[in-house]
Amino acid sequence: MQVRDFDPSTADSTAFGDWLTVLNEMTAEDMPDEPRWCDDRIADYLSVTMPGESRIAWTAYDDEIGVAGHANLLLFGGDFAHTGVFEIFVRPAARGRGTGRALLTELAKHAAADGRETISTEVIATTPAVGFYERLGFARAVVEQRSLLALSSVDWSRIAQQAKQVSAPYRLEYHRGGLPEELHERYATTKANLRTAGPQQAGEWRGSSDAVRLRDSLATLKGRGMRTHMVVAVHEKTEQVAGLTELVVAAQRPTRGDQYDTVVAPAHRSYGLALAMKARMLTELRSAEPQLRDVQTWTALENSPLEHVNAQLGFDPDVQWFEYEAAVPALLDGLR
Ligand SMILES: CC(C)(COP(=O)(O)OP(=O)(O)OC[C@H]1O[C@@H](n2cnc3c(N)ncnc32)[C@H](O)[C@@H]1OP(=O)(O)O)[C@@H](O)C(=O)NCCC(=O)NCCS
Repeated sequence: MQVRDFDPSTADSTAFGDWLTVLNEMTAEDMPDEPRWCDDRIADYLSVTMPGESRIAWTAYDDEIGVAGHANLLLFGGDFAHTGVFEIFVRPAARGRGTGRALLTELAKHAAADGRETISTEVIATTPAVGFYERLGFARAVVEQRSLLALSSVDWSRIAQQAKQVSAPYRLEYHRGGLPEELHERYATTKANLRTAGPQQAGEWRGSSDAVRLRDSLATLKGRGMRTHMVVAVHEKTEQVAGLTELVVAAQRPTRGDQYDTVVAPAHRSYGLALAMKARMLTELRSAEPQLRDVQTWTALENSPLEHVNAQLGFDPDVQWFEYEAAVPALLDGLR
């Protein structure tokens, strides 16, 4: 087993083809109902990062199988320079032969050399990745419920009604591919309410709480081939952003929408804004992304008012997602 660096800036079409093969074989084996990945902007997807961040990738080669798996590690900057997130994908035929262990060892060594204290990854609860990470010393840090909305099952007249249930003093605006410059500051202020709202530990929220980070984040998504859609509720007397919801469609998996953040500022809660904004989003997606088949969203297991909103829109709870985390020095000791 050999693990070699994978550099998306120099990789050729064969190497990207191998990357896709690994992803799609893994998906077919572990999550057969999930959409497959397609050959569109993979290089951008793997190489573009936020300023101050970097992503390093590796390929594992097996003497008998050839390309056996891939891994990548995203190293955050600024306040999060102590940590990183990673992914490991092993082809079904190459499993149980130490491929995953070899990729994890390489990336943990790199994380240690770069001074990272912890690394984490997300896994779907029904896949073999759970046993692998628990065996290798990771602890479950976050559990979330993923829900899916199949667009073929949507009652569009009901959704259109829900989207209209906004009374004065609010108006809804839909923005695609970015936000008007003058909204950035107000949008980021409302988004900062999520700092203490999610399942993460205090201080671990990595979202955009100021206009500069928001602008960088939108540019990064665009650079990676991820199309952003945003619905904003504006309080008409003050022109403040009372609430927002964001959804992303990746060029690499264009039939699946990823619901990102939804938040209503505390002073504007209980007016039905979350339901109206999310319903409006769905109506816009019908024409903006006609190839879309479903939308996925994640909620914390407890105290999630969004679960009620999602149920009203027709989302069905699907599988749990776990975030696994390990302290890098202990992980390396265990791997030796
Ligand atoms: C999880 C995964 C990386 C394991 O790869 P692998 O090459 O089969 O793992 P290895 O052969 O290196 O196994 C390393 C150790 O983990 C153990 N292990 C591997 N899979 C396991 C499982 N499902 N349950 C329990 N232990 C497991 C092995 O027994 C081995 O233990 P040992 O070294 O102490 O003897 C692979 O199954 C995979 O790619 N899964 C999909 C990844 C995924 O879900 N990505 C995220 C999608 S969102």
